[in-house]
Amino acid sequence: MDNAFVPMPAVVEDVITETPTIKTFVLSPERPISFRAGQFMQLGIPGLGEAPFTPSSSPFVPERMEITILRTGSVTNALHTLAPGAVVGLRGPFGRGYPVDHFEGREVLVVGGGVGLAPLRALLFWLFHEIDRVKRVSIKYGSREPAELCFRRLHEEWGRLPKVDFTCTIDRPAPGWDGRVGLVTTLLDGLDVDVKEAVVVSCGPEVMLKFVTLKLCDLGFPPEHIFLSMNRNMSCGMGLCGRCNVGPFYLCKDGPDMCYADIKDIPYALG
Ligand SMILES: Cc1cc2nc3c(=O)[nH]c(=O)nc-3n(C[C@H](O)[C@H](O)[C@H](O)COP(=O)(O)OP(=O)(O)OC[C@H]3O[C@@H](n4cnc5c(N)ncnc54)[C@H](O)[C@@H]3O)c2cc1C
Ligand code: FES
Repeated sequence: MDNAFVPMPAVVEDVITETPTIKTFVLSPERPISFRAGQFMQLGIPGLGEAPFTPSSSPFVPERMEITILRTGSVTNALHTLAPGAVVGLRGPFGRGYPVDHFEGREVLVVGGGVGLAPLRALLFWLFHEIDRVKRVSIKYGSREPAELCFRRLHEEWGRLPKVDFTCTIDRPAPGWDGRVGLVTTLLDGLDVDVKEAVVVSCGPEVMLKFVTLKLCDLGFPPEHIFLSMNRNMSCGMGLCGRCNVGPFYLCKDGPDMCYADIKDIPYALG
């Protein structure tokens, strides 16, 4: 068995600029890495440090991993300077992944904000591949401005897939934008889904997760059907350091995707 503390070398095959602050790194690991949608990796640059990221590529393609990264601090700034041919280190996968068996036969609402669409993309790959197992996939996505819409190159294609619909919004009006304007929560108004049966998966900034969850509860979605990606700061990724605990849970081990029913009574669980 591989030592979970030792990174596996991976070659950067391609770098795709998604937005001025977000890039997708296409990696070819030394050996295929099997992962479940929602599990995360620790991605590092030798001698510089590592940070947790959820692959944005298909869990059905273990020999090539894509990771989509927002530039925000020291590690992510360094990652953004990498070009094809560079070698990085990968540890993982860690965490449990999305509870996809729970989605069987249901409508799945996927709600993303900003770079939060990146961790959700592996789940979208899973849902598109297993589309006969679910009733429908409805993607609701919001970003601050048009230039920051992640995976804009793919939105139209997703919206054309059978049993899939895609709607996006930006926070404030912008020149040249004739799409929807308003926070992502506004996309939850007038939903045509059976709120008692549908499941919701959401990933985005903490403040967004909080308001999306409040709105879903107001609309009547049961907490047992709401799954939130709690992508907080982590260190070991293995339940050893205690950096990521929320109540009795370690997000790295018990999450990072948590059922709202399990955390709703924990003070400040959603900030
Ligand atoms: C399970 C998991 C999955 C993730 N998946 C992705 C992903 O797919 N794509 C992506 O772009 N990012 C993802 N993140 C967030 C990513 O790990 C952080 O942005 C990264 O650790 C920042 O490292 P840094 O050294 O560049 O920033 P630092 O220099 O450590 O910090 C710079 C700023 O970013 C903030 N920050 C640091 N970590 C986080 C965090 N986890 N969430 C929010 N703000 C943070 C700091 O508070 C600080 O303000 C994920 C995080 C977790 C825990
Ligand atoms: S990151 Fe160390 S316990 Fe979760």
